[in-house]
Parts: sequence; C-alpha cells; structure tokens
Amino acid sequence: MNDFYKCAICGKIVKVIAAGKGELVCCGQPMAMLTNFKSVNEVLDFAIEKEEEARQFYLEWSKKLENKALSEQFVQFAGEENKHKEKLQRVKTGSTFKPAAKQVTDLKIVDYLVDIVPTPGMDYQEALIVAMRREKASFKFYNDLAAMAQDEGLRETFLALAQEEAKHKLRLETEYEKEIYSEN
Ligand SMILES: [Fe+2]
Ligand SMILES: [Fe+2]
Repeated sequence: MNDFYKCAICGKIVKVIAAGKGELVCCGQPMAMLTNFKSVNEVLDFAIEKEEEARQFYLEWSKKLENKALSEQFVQFAGEENKHKEKLQRVKTGSTFKPAAKQVTDLKIVDYLVDIVPTPGMDYQEALIVAMRREKASFKFYNDLAAMAQDEGLRETFLALAQEEAKHKLRLETEYEKEIYSEN
C-alpha cells in the first residue's frame, strides 16, 4: 500500500495504510491521489516546498536541542536549506530547466516522500530519523533532476544540491549513532 493523497487547499498529505471504498475529503473537497509529476513547474514547486519544510524543521529543532554545538549546526542547516530554496526559485523564474516532457512524467512523487512525518510529540531520535530519510529523499530527487537537465550549468546546480543533502544526511547519521550508543 503506497497511495498518498494530497489536499489541494491546505496541502495536507495522507497515506493510505488499508484500502476501503470511501472517498477521502479534506477542506470540503475530494483529495487527489499523488501519482506522477505533470510539469516542470510542479517538480520545482515540490522541491521548493520540501526545502521550506526542511528549513523549518531544523530551525524548530535547533531551539529544542540542549547540545549547543549541534543546535548551531542545525541553524546552519536551516540557512543552507533556505539557500537551496532560493536557488530553486531562481531556476523556476528563469525557466532554464527544460527536460523532455516524458522525463518529467516518469518521476513518481511518492519516490521522494518520506512515509513518516514529524509529529509535535516526537523525541529527538525520531526527529533524527525523519530528517535522515528526508535528506536521503532529497539527495535522490536532485540526482534524478540532474540526470534530466539538458543544460550543463543546471545539471551542476542539481548535482551540487544533491551533494549538500548527502552531507546533511551524513552529519545526521553520525549524530544518530552517538545518540544510540550513549543510551547503552
Ligand atoms: Fe535542501
Ligand atoms: Fe538538507
């Protein structure tokens, strides 16, 4: 079961864990199933939205962390995610990203979504897991976009973004291991 539905109004995403006959409704209208991206704009909007989510995530957790060095690291991550967002916004307004239409529609939205989402009551370990999965999904996403980019400069931009997300993931993994070992 890997169906996700998204509300076009509030943006809420719902994962189906058991199928049924009913219709999913949010904000007073039926929710649309997330399948494939339909346009370059949709791809870029998705990426921009994910970067904004990541920025907020790191900022929020930077305030909760007791470890000062790590808290500063998270603030730095938030700044980097913000730069990613701005970079993508520039790509979007410049419309320099022109992959073949077929390539875009081959991208499945679910491949880049993490199936656990942050909850307000999440502990630090759970938060790290959500973040690591998200960084991994971002890495894959930018790598796939790089493969579709026909313009050399743009391809390099996406590859650079992929590398930065990989670094974030590695940093989180190191922290996660420390957490686990300090418990035993
Ligand atoms: Fe990012
Ligand atoms: Fe990141």
